[in-house]
Formats: sequence, C-alpha cells, structure tokens
Amino acid sequence: MSANGESLPSRVWKVALVGARRGSSYGNLTHADPRFEIAALCDVNRDSLAAYQRAIGLPDARCFTDYGLLLGAGGFDAVIVCTPIPFHADQSVEAMDAGFHVMSEVTAANTVDGCARIVAAARRTGKTYMLAENTCHRPLFAEWRRLLESGRLGEPIYAEADYLHPIPQLLVNEETGQQTWRAQRPAIHYCSHSLGPVLMLTGDRIVRAMGIGAGTRILPEGGVGGIDVQVGVFETAHGAIIKMTRTQVAPRHRPIHYYHIQGTKGFVETDRLGPEPGRPIQRGLLYIKAEMDHTRQVEWPEVDPTYPEYATMGGHGTSDYHTLLRFLNALDRGTKADLDETRAWDMTMPGLIAAESAQNGGAWMDVPEA
Ligand SMILES: NC(=O)c1ccc[n+]([C@@H]2O[C@H](COP(=O)([O-])OP(=O)(O)OC[C@H]3O[C@@H](n4cnc5c(N)ncnc54)[C@H](O)[C@@H]3O)[C@@H](O)[C@H]2O)c1
Repeated sequence: MSANGESLPSRVWKVALVGARRGSSYGNLTHADPRFEIAALCDVNRDSLAAYQRAIGLPDARCFTDYGLLLGAGGFDAVIVCTPIPFHADQSVEAMDAGFHVMSEVTAANTVDGCARIVAAARRTGKTYMLAENTCHRPLFAEWRRLLESGRLGEPIYAEADYLHPIPQLLVNEETGQQTWRAQRPAIHYCSHSLGPVLMLTGDRIVRAMGIGAGTRILPEGGVGGIDVQVGVFETAHGAIIKMTRTQVAPRHRPIHYYHIQGTKGFVETDRLGPEPGRPIQRGLLYIKAEMDHTRQVEWPEVDPTYPEYATMGGHGTSDYHTLLRFLNALDRGTKADLDETRAWDMTMPGLIAAESAQNGGAWMDVPEA
C-alpha cells in the first residue's frame, strides 16, 4: 500500500484519451504517472488533436479523429472520455461493448436514456465504468467523511450544494455569436459537482426532485444554458433535504462551490469565497453542539502533500489526481469503482429530472433507481 492507501499497481494501464481540451488534464496526469501510458488519442478537431499529439509525443498511427476507428484499432485497456456531455453515453457504451473500461468526465449523460444505457452496458459487459467526479476527491471531503463517520455531527438532515460559475464565453462563441453545446445544457443539469460529494459522504440517494428557474435576463442569446439561475430541491432515501443553486451566467468572482451539511448534532460548511489564487486552502465553519459554545472557523487543504509533485498538473488542487488514482485502484483490483455506473446515475439523474420539473412549473418528480 502507498501512503495514500492506494493498492500498488500490478501493471501499466494503457489508455485512450478522447477529447483533448479538458482531456489534457487527465492526459497530463496519465502521461506523468508511470502506472499509465497514453496509447491513443482521439479528437474530432484536427488542430486540437495535433496540438496535444505534439505535447505528449504520440505517433500519427495512434491518433484519430474518428472514435469508431480508435475503438477498432485498440491497443489499450481503457478509454478516458473527456468530450462534450452529449457524446458521453454513446462513447462510454461503445467503449464498454468493444471490451474497454471507461472513466468518463461529468456528468454521465445529458439524457435519462443515456444514463440508463450506461448502467445497462456496464452491467452487461462487466467492464469498469467510473464517473470522474473530481469534487468528491477534494481533500476536505476526506476530513468531512471522518467527521460524519465519527457521529459528531449526528444524522445528516439537510444539505446545500451550490455551484455558481459564470461561463458566458463557453456558452456563446464571442467571435461568431454561435451557441456551443453548453448553451443546450440547463444549468441544473450540471449537478454532480454539487450533489456528488453530499451523496458520497452521506451514502444516500435522491428519490424526488423539483426545480425552478427559467428567466434569461443576463444572457438571452445563451439558450437554456443561459438561464439566469436554477434552484433544485431534492429529497433523499434517508429522509434528508438537499438544496442546490446553479448558474452559468450570473456575475460572480471568484466562482464557487458551496457545501453545507446540517446534522442532528451540528453542521459543517465551506465559505462563500472559495480558495484564494495561489493559496490552496478552503475555509469554512464547524459547529458541534456537544463540543463548542460557538461556531468555529476552520480551514482545509486543497492539496494532499503526500502526493507526488506532478499531482497538481490536472488542476483543481490534487483532486483530479486522486480521481485518476480511484480509477487505477478499480483497474488494479478488477472491481467496480466507488463512483460506478450506479453512483454515476445517482449523481446525474437528479439534475435531469429537476430541469424537467422546472419546465413543468416546479412539479415534484420521482427520481428512479438505477
Ligand atoms: N471535472 C471538471 O472539473 C471539468 C472541468 C471542465 C470540463 N469538464 C467536462 O469535460 C468534458 C469536456 O469539456 P471541455 O471543456 O473540454 O469541452 P470542449 O467543448 O471545450 O472540448 C471538448 C473537446 O472534445 C472534442 N470533441 C468534440 N466532440 C467530439 C467527439 N464526438 N469525439 C471526439 N472528440 C470530440 C472537441 O474538439 C474538443 O477538443 C465535459 O464533459 C465537461 O463537463 C469537467
């Protein structure tokens, strides 16, 4: 076992990387880590493909603009899917059916049918599927996990998980005025960064969802992705309530993920400033009734100092690296990933259902089980 509790590798895993923009984060990490080898690269955009091919020094024969040709060529064990979300379901299912393991960027899919096909394919093929929900692997949540497991917070009864990140330039191309794929994504669809850690920490799943938010005063040309703000409220199987606020356009600097967990004996939450640039620390508050007179200010690191120097190359502190290690762990052990197809469903479906609810005036809707 390593210092981080990861099992030591039994072999080098060859991966194919699909989508060379965000994909370069996992590409840089797999390139640096001796337990992985990038054996093939795919991007529909020739320029993006060529640029990243040069960066990692891959021969022409291992670079593809056609996903079907990549899968047909083989020569790798797993596919890392980092393409726009509307391609995730088809590409994940095709990869598993072709005999490859999959790590997929978030969210799992942009439709209920897509999520169902991923679950069915993973169960049918027995291949490892993992949702690369990197927020779950922020070091602060390892501390929150210990806190919850100790029972000091009591039973979780309420959580908030907001993700406020204006990205108007990623919704509408500033030069051409054309909408991108993100303009077709209601803000609330992108829910796994928010719900993922809460569901992981509580071991819970969402059974009912409602959503509201349809105004487009800030970026009317931004499609449903440009809806000013959307709010989802969720009920869980354990009887807790979760509230999530999402925007992709409302002005705010710095963008934040905000998390709050209220238990029967106290609460923990992150602050609403987020880590300062160059200072990878998340501040927050903690109150435990039996131990404290007042709420205390606390700090959690964003970088795990036990990891190698290259562990921050993916971005997001060391959480991208930890995400990759969870995939490595599942591959080495030949087991399901912690964030497997069922948890990918649990962390993606509530946002899809809440968006549907918002279209129906905020009606409560059931979230089916995978
Ligand atoms: N976890 C995180 O922190 C995080 C951060 C950013 C993006 N993401 C996720 O990563 C994924 C990609 O995001 P992005 O910002 O790189 O998107 P993007 O649109 O900027 O780039 C996607 C890349 O994929 C390529 N591509 C598009 N369609 C393709 C196809 N069918 N086959 C192969 N290549 C294709 C494009 O040419 C482009 O190079 C999305 O799922 C997004 O949600 C996650």
